[in-house]
Amino acid sequence: MRSQNSRRRFLVQAISGSGVGLWMARTAWGNFIPPTAAQTKGPFYPVPEIEKQKYFDADLTRLDAKSPVADGEQIAVRGVVLDMDEKPLDQVIVEVWQACETGRYNHPQDRNDRPMDPNFQYWARMVTGPDGTFSIRTILPGKYPGRTPHLHYRIAAPNRSELVTQMYFEANQELNRKDGIYMDLKPEQRAAVTIGLAKKPIAENDPKSEQLPTGDFRIVLGPRSDSKSTQPM
Ligand SMILES: [Fe+2]
Repeated sequence: MRSQNSRRRFLVQAISGSGVGLWMARTAWGNFIPPTAAQTKGPFYPVPEIEKQKYFDADLTRLDAKSPVADGEQIAVRGVVLDMDEKPLDQVIVEVWQACETGRYNHPQDRNDRPMDPNFQYWARMVTGPDGTFSIRTILPGKYPGRTPHLHYRIAAPNRSELVTQMYFEANQELNRKDGIYMDLKPEQRAAVTIGLAKKPIAENDPKSEQLPTGDFRIVLGPRSDSKSTQPM
């Protein structure tokens, strides 16, 4: 009987001990910002031939400064890559790919018969600076069957699992609500990958510079996984 009592006392102590541990973990977790939800890469991730293309800078609206401008309404996205402590992440590769104004991707698997835009860059690759930021100039992606307009992102940071996700626009609420991939996310995850657009000067410190509808996109990466390092391509 005595030994049973002491065993019970031990169990109570063990349970309350682990309870305290859980409570502390939850409190600590609450200080972090949740990572951006992963979403499907989709079938149109750039193939090696496209990756070798000459143009992959942050301006998707034309191939280079001298080439004609792509069709579509131009927008800017100002992004930042953060860790769960909200610390900006330096030297992170950010890739973006999307459809042109007609809703066509630059990919051999895209059977959509709408024309491609020879002036649209379709794909960009950047590296974040010490402040974790990147910015792109692009067009509003065209609609294609079954999807609401979206941009695809692949984020590769040293010593972290890569993140593949998609970004949407607040203005397309109705279409967004009919999109299965979008609706598979939890409401707070959807909010984190949906941007609003407001006219802003392209050069943040020059109010007289050209204005474009601009949105902010915060990308939050999960914890470091030193054992599973991602080698940026
Ligand atoms: Fe897509």
